[in-house]
Amino acid sequence: MGIEQKQKPTRNLALELVRVTEAGALAAARHFGRGTKTNADQAAVDAMRLLINEIDIDGKIVTGEGQKDQAPMLYSGEIVGNGSPPELDIAVDPVEGTTLVAKGMPNAIATIAAAPRGTMYDPGPMFYMSKIAVGHEAKDVIDINAPVWDNLQKIARAKGMAVGDLTVVVLDRPRHDALIQDVRDCGARIRLIPAGDVAGALMAAWPGTGIDVLLGIGGTPEAVIAACGLRAMQGAFQGKLWPRDEADRQLAKETGYDLERVLTLDDLVSSEDTFFVATGISEGPLLNGVTYSEGYAHTHSLVARGLTGTVREITAYHHMDKLAEISPIPY
Ligand code: FBP
Repeated sequence: MGIEQKQKPTRNLALELVRVTEAGALAAARHFGRGTKTNADQAAVDAMRLLINEIDIDGKIVTGEGQKDQAPMLYSGEIVGNGSPPELDIAVDPVEGTTLVAKGMPNAIATIAAAPRGTMYDPGPMFYMSKIAVGHEAKDVIDINAPVWDNLQKIARAKGMAVGDLTVVVLDRPRHDALIQDVRDCGARIRLIPAGDVAGALMAAWPGTGIDVLLGIGGTPEAVIAACGLRAMQGAFQGKLWPRDEADRQLAKETGYDLERVLTLDDLVSSEDTFFVATGISEGPLLNGVTYSEGYAHTHSLVARGLTGTVREITAYHHMDKLAEISPIPY
């Protein structure tokens, strides 16, 4: 008797995209602690572009990080893949946490997300977003408009924990001074990170990281990428565009971005058919970084698919001599 299936298994693009982030992480890792943000970014971009353009997709980058930083770019609007269907939106950050790599610090990742064309949020000229992210246990209780205490109390209850047991991850920025004070006043623990709130958001949803919630203001492209991963991990996210100053406020008005609108996972990526991949460049609670042993480099990746909710951890051993023979990229 055959197995009755509701749907035949379909292509899991994440399993192909992981080669792209592995390549980015391997290339960027050579610049670990070497003081240069741009070289790490450029190396990752070159490696990822080479790999992604071999994949059977017709991808359009909706949020590349290049525009914000004037970085070497996989830029917004760039067409990637070999042009075969399916048509996809792509969000990519070759080095999420360039300063982390430059300074040899933890939590840098190479990451990419894909979803059907037209389903990813386009942040336009708005660079920053206020964010809250949690895992599946607390997905129905968060409210970005509520005070910190309300959110932490509800998250703690949903997770069967005390507020004092929660760990909140926050980007270490002066703009977060009041937020940090609020969290401390609630009695919760804080992990301040110097950069990298995609990893921060995913830590809140991925078991074993010791992180329960991400709070604070970070980049909008990073929010779109994190949303794709959180969908696959059954987590939750809310965001609100954050104007740095009056000029941003004016720009939002002119370009039709509502600063009061609460953006959910569905707003950031409206399809469940999402793919998210991240490979660690430097070690952290989410992923191991690139490490080396005799003849090999090791990578550790998360490979997630929204449609099925399957998240794989892939550890790879890359044979450096063979890579050196075959690849135009100097890993
Ligand atoms: P990089 O551009 O160096 O990769 O930094 C990434 C990041 O730390 C994100 O994780 C975060 O969303 C954003 O920058 C925060 O922006 P800012 O550093 O301007 O506060």
